[in-house]
Amino acid sequence: MIDTLLISSSAERAPQIAARLEASGIAFRLRTLHGTAKQLRVHAAAIKSADLLIVDDADLTPRELSGVEEVLSHLPHLHCMLVTPAPSTTLLMAAMRVGVRHVLSWPLDDREIADALAHVSAKKHAGVRRDGRVVSFTSCKGGSGTTLIAVNLAYALAALRDKRVLLIDLNQQFADASLLVADKAPPATLADLCSQIDRLDAAFFESCVMHVHANLDVLAGAGDPVKSGELRAAHLERILTLVREQYDAVLIDVGQNINPLAIHALDHSDSICMVVRQNILYLHAGRRMLDIFKELGYPASKVKVIVNQYDKNARINLATLEETFGAKVAHHLPRDEKQATEALNHGVPLVTGAKGGALAQGISQLAALLWPLPVAERKSVLGRLFASRPNSPPQLKPGH
Ligand SMILES: Nc1ncnc2c1ncn2[C@@H]1O[C@H](COP(=O)(O)OP(=O)(O)OP(=O)(O)O)[C@@H](O)[C@H]1O
Ligand SMILES: [Mg+2]
Repeated sequence: MIDTLLISSSAERAPQIAARLEASGIAFRLRTLHGTAKQLRVHAAAIKSADLLIVDDADLTPRELSGVEEVLSHLPHLHCMLVTPAPSTTLLMAAMRVGVRHVLSWPLDDREIADALAHVSAKKHAGVRRDGRVVSFTSCKGGSGTTLIAVNLAYALAALRDKRVLLIDLNQQFADASLLVADKAPPATLADLCSQIDRLDAAFFESCVMHVHANLDVLAGAGDPVKSGELRAAHLERILTLVREQYDAVLIDVGQNINPLAIHALDHSDSICMVVRQNILYLHAGRRMLDIFKELGYPASKVKVIVNQYDKNARINLATLEETFGAKVAHHLPRDEKQATEALNHGVPLVTGAKGGALAQGISQLAALLWPLPVAERKSVLGRLFASRPNSPPQLKPGH
């Protein structure tokens, strides 16, 4: 989340700048004050707590940059962006000299402002050593909703909880998580990465993932049984060690295959979500899967049963599931064909697509269950989770 302070000399341009920031898809918090570059001192207290200061001043001249210079000399970590119509070369040079990296001309170019924001976000997150929690999503039968849940949970954590999130698609036949998040081909797949595992470091990993949102990267699945066959547990181990340091949350869409590679992912997961539905096939297969987890030595607390497409009138109700599984149902998500289809076809993440939609709320609650909020933040952030959606919902598939 980039704390952004916009100081604007125009009541007309300010909302337009806010809309462009919104359209970038990068998480930010915005405060807007009226003023010009000359008047920065007056706003010193507000500037102090910002990551990014945007000064929108139509009459900006190199002279007025002394105020910006003063601010940046006291706050070396602050990023400053200037917005002004047709900035002259003299102004650009003067801005650079005082430490301003981004001078944007009015009217704003969507791409330029998104790139500038991505740059600020990357700088804010760089160099922070994280201790990522790994959560795997498995199903005992196809079509339970594992991918839909993993993708949308990843987006919820990235966009609403400001976590750095990685989604790894471990499905070995029909890897489809990356299709749900982007129209373009991924730069590399898990199989490509593993075939060059000796090159693995943070920079190489970064070049292999698909950047879906400022906080969300996706490592696409092999998507080919032959290539999947070449993946080794030792490769995955090296990848997981690296990514735990780079991300707050690592979500693995394991799917329904329980093979040595999947078991390795499950061994190294902090939690396993087993996604089931309310029918007899899941009842039996789910029981069998929980037995396997027990044989693998996983404590009961590590495994969370998630019921998807919950139907309170179904013959197999939660009590029957719990009795058969010998385990509590940790969470259930409602069925919502409209929202699920919209998310699938248009790449609109559930948590931003439909205001107050039950499925979106269920995903947000699952995020809070798996990544509990610090007590002090609970009230305000939960308030934000269920707050009204942004004016223009960000899309999972850029350019859709
Ligand atoms: N809560 C829900 N409400 C309505 N439709 C849903 C819900 N969850 C998933 N679906 C739909 O069910 C279908 C299967 O979902 P998904 O692909 O996520 O399942 P999966 O477990 O990953 O399947 P696979 O075994 O093929 O990997 C999709 O069309 C999806 O949109
Ligand atoms: Mg799937």
